[in-house]
Amino acid sequence: MSLYKQLLFPLLVASLALVAACSDTDNSVATMSASEADRSALMALDSASLAAASMDVHSFANSDAVRVTHVSLDLDVDFDAKQLAGTATLSLDRIDPQADRLVLDSRALTIEAVEVGTAEGFSDADWVMGEALGALGQPIVIALDDQADRVRLSYRTSPQASGLQWLSPEQTADKENPFLFSQAQAIHARSFIPLQDTPGVRVTYDATIRTPQHLLATMSAEMEETINKDGEYHFDMPQAIPPYLIAIGVGNLDFQSMSERTGVYAEPYILEAAAAEFEDTERMMEVTEALYGPYRWGRYDILMLPASFPFGGMENPRLSFITPTVVAGDKSLVSLIAHELAHSWSGNLVTNSTWRDLWLNEGFTTYLTYRIMEEVYGKARERQEAVLGYQDILNELDALPPEDTVLNIELGQRDPDDVFSNIPYEKGALFLRELEYKVGRDNFDAFLKDYFDHFAFQSITTQQFKDYLEAELVAKFPETLDMARINEWIHEPGLPVDHPVPESDAFKKVDTARAAWLKGALAAVDIDTDNWTVHQWLYFLNNMPKTMEMDRLAELDGSFGLTGTSNNEIAHSWLKIAIRNDYDPAFERLEDYLVDIGRRKLIVPLYEELAKSPEHMEFARRIYKEARPGYHPLAQGSVDEALGLAESD
Ligand code: BES
Ligand code: ZN
Repeated sequence: MSLYKQLLFPLLVASLALVAACSDTDNSVATMSASEADRSALMALDSASLAAASMDVHSFANSDAVRVTHVSLDLDVDFDAKQLAGTATLSLDRIDPQADRLVLDSRALTIEAVEVGTAEGFSDADWVMGEALGALGQPIVIALDDQADRVRLSYRTSPQASGLQWLSPEQTADKENPFLFSQAQAIHARSFIPLQDTPGVRVTYDATIRTPQHLLATMSAEMEETINKDGEYHFDMPQAIPPYLIAIGVGNLDFQSMSERTGVYAEPYILEAAAAEFEDTERMMEVTEALYGPYRWGRYDILMLPASFPFGGMENPRLSFITPTVVAGDKSLVSLIAHELAHSWSGNLVTNSTWRDLWLNEGFTTYLTYRIMEEVYGKARERQEAVLGYQDILNELDALPPEDTVLNIELGQRDPDDVFSNIPYEKGALFLRELEYKVGRDNFDAFLKDYFDHFAFQSITTQQFKDYLEAELVAKFPETLDMARINEWIHEPGLPVDHPVPESDAFKKVDTARAAWLKGALAAVDIDTDNWTVHQWLYFLNNMPKTMEMDRLAELDGSFGLTGTSNNEIAHSWLKIAIRNDYDPAFERLEDYLVDIGRRKLIVPLYEELAKSPEHMEFARRIYKEARPGYHPLAQGSVDEALGLAESD
């Protein structure tokens, strides 16, 4: 590879210069001295070749030659223009002394100037931008002389930046203040910062952020202890993190402490409710530390986002971003907090090197989540959540092509957003569960604790994990573990025979009740649901037959008030049933639900269900017209696709 780079990179820059020149941009292009004879050969080298030469197919970065080690941001938050504007100064580690250029990722950024820094100061750089390559965006190639150890880019973001959502005041709860949040995972950091956007590269960062007065800026970094909403904020992240963990949230935010080192940032309407819902966060931290070693990030705070946040949560270090849809009033959905917290070990401390290795983040985190839930809320609750997780795998195995049910998935050039599924989460966790059963809990806990310590602050591939597993666990338990079985879990589709199957006694009672009701032996009102957990309700609903009579649905709804439930997960399960069976009384709620919530996991399956019949499709498109402007770009993309509205690239 380095030979390839040495020989072809000089040509490559020239080739990109030609592309940029042809595409009518005003970038300063200095490396354009290609002779006519070279020209056709040069044109064959394009952005795709840069991506192919990179260590990560989802990045253009030449991080094996020149590596960004620190990102220093100075940005204005402009809600009117819906843009971030300012500078990013990148510190460089010149790994290959021969390398004479830096390749960065960008997407829909306007680059106004590029300077190269040496001990002498900054001077204008020779640089060029390649053509756009779908979700990968555009490479920025910057010529470096021997002394260069920094580059400074002046830039602004597009109002359509894929990693940002700008909410107007009308789109927020108080209707008076705007809100901005970022969501960089997997490959969206490049849409708001020009950098080497691959999880194989780790950076420290600092930032100065200017906002309109009275709004508060928060980031995944150390923040000032006392809140003074003066419109200028300083942040520092001294630990090296992958770029997808750089995050910003700006809005009318207040803070409420939950313990010495935990607290909640939220718009006033939900601050108290969120702090009450998540009051066990400190306890979760303590049990996780006891199992897997110290929490290494200082504080752990939660930022409550608007309901349009496309995920349940995002593990931005020191500051998890959380959907308000889990504030149920009864802590029934707090495994989301356990999950995002667990990423402080699996994901943020030990990070997947590429997006093919996502299961190292999500599978480990899902396993840790179950363990945390067991410690804090008991085995009975944990087993219920584990059975629901297992059912998620079975559903995915039905829905996905077999090659996409492999843990170490072959993504190729596909956009990681398009390949998102429960497989890396729940199949990954089940694999670790099997290892736990085979070597015993204490031994497996010790192994995981050592693993987090051994690879702390590193990004690793599936192969590195396997090598470590073989040396540290398989070698110690040769009677019960073998690499053939482990390889089957990691590299084969589906589930290996005799995999563990989670069971829950609480769910067995639900099965009995459901069966009796379905065959008419028991009226709904006579089912003893008094002490049912939210998870029992979900299990009850999720395992109903595909088609049901209208009077049966009316009986359920009349007995249990399902259409009116305030629990968003139960509502989701019920609304899916309602759509499938055209249960009209639930459609008004469905409309509100789709307009109010933008979390992909909750809304996309409903749109997909609606898309199955022509009348429902018409309803869906009508509602979507109203809902779409409030959705995040990611959710818009998914729903566009579900409703057949997606434009081809
Ligand atoms: N890191 C993920 C979200 C993510 C994964 C974003 C891959 C982009 C690409 C986050 O920790 C997560 O898993 N969220 C889940 C939580 C759930 C499994 C408890 C979600 O949002 O649903
Ligand atoms: Zn996760």
